Amino acid sequence: MSYNFDEIIDRRDTGSLKWHYTDDTIALWVADMDFKAAEPILNAIEQVVQHGILGYTNPTEALYDSIINWHGRRYDLWLEKQDILFSPGVVPSLVLMMNVFTEVGDAVLVNDPIYTPFMTKVEQNGRKLVLSALQEIEGKYHLDLADIEAKIIEHDVKLYLLCNPHNPGGRVWMRDELEALLAICKKHNVAIVSDEIHQDLTLTGHTFTPFLTLAEGYEHNVVSLTSMTKTFNIAGIKGSMIFAKDKALIKKIGQQQQLNDEYELNLFAYTAMRSAYEKGDEWLAQALAYIDANIDLTVQFLEAHLPKIKVMRPEASYLIWVDCSAYAEDDQALYDTLRAAKVELSAGFKYGQEGHLKMRINVACPRALLLEGLTRMHAALGDVVKP
Ligand SMILES: Cc1ncc(COP(=O)(O)O)c(C=O)c1O
Repeated sequence: MSYNFDEIIDRRDTGSLKWHYTDDTIALWVADMDFKAAEPILNAIEQVVQHGILGYTNPTEALYDSIINWHGRRYDLWLEKQDILFSPGVVPSLVLMMNVFTEVGDAVLVNDPIYTPFMTKVEQNGRKLVLSALQEIEGKYHLDLADIEAKIIEHDVKLYLLCNPHNPGGRVWMRDELEALLAICKKHNVAIVSDEIHQDLTLTGHTFTPFLTLAEGYEHNVVSLTSMTKTFNIAGIKGSMIFAKDKALIKKIGQQQQLNDEYELNLFAYTAMRSAYEKGDEWLAQALAYIDANIDLTVQFLEAHLPKIKVMRPEASYLIWVDCSAYAEDDQALYDTLRAAKVELSAGFKYGQEGHLKMRINVACPRALLLEGLTRMHAALGDVVKP
């Protein structure tokens, strides 16, 4: 079937985090999409509601098979049932992994910029946050491997939290970059947790490499975290997976999960996960084509109307990281100016020091909304070019 991503669905007054307004502000911030979810997922949830009993839920063989097939056929990541655990979300799993691999006071390394909870959760859980800035070369972020190794040694880092594909910069780290990172972590016995929640949103021309496909010989120190929620725009359902290929490590993670009983899937997450992985390909292919066209549109709009904005074209996902430093001097003022023009973007400074005067634009919305949001952005910033 052909999905209509142009349909504008009013999300105000639904409890939506993204559309929290009472006025006509346009939301181009939080990372969910303004598209209706795939029909097979909605049908499966409807069937559950029709069935009428919403009891405790256990993962079934069919669910494991759907996860194993999805990751095998798409990424050549061949999992076994015993490699898979469930969790309410990838962020809760990041915290869980800190408890598995580190003690209070240990150093945890993350890149800058990075999805905010990578920093806040490390600090809130009493670990020492160590940042390694990504290097921007010709409009693309790169891992600064020399800096990463130096920081690992200097701070005796125990855990590296990787974001692949990267939020907010949109990089899909290449196999050789990941292998180089792995070699450093191996050398210094640093565990790697790879947040791969944006994996399925990899755009045409780029190849996603699951970290676990590289980890042979180091599997006792590698975990990946992923979910169907970002891929299929069902983030409100909550539910995710933890993958590890070392028996003792999986056992340890399982034991850690027992401490607060956080290992069950809710019924709707179970239902959505299975139907997404069994029947979601068609919706996803169409959504990605629509997103790619929205990225083109945004790049062209900014080139034409705000030419001093530097755009980092994403290799995955629908988040565009833009440098607004030609149009602003103060982070909060930049955000406020846009809010006053009734368009909300994610403020770059929330993603670390490297986010200074940057903004993140979420383009996963109907084209008419996106154009109106960009037009408001132009109206807000168009006259404030710095000398
Ligand atoms: C890199 C990354 N990890 C995790 C999450 C959130 O995951 P969850 O809702 O499963 O906690 C997001 C949401 O935007 C994200 O971008």
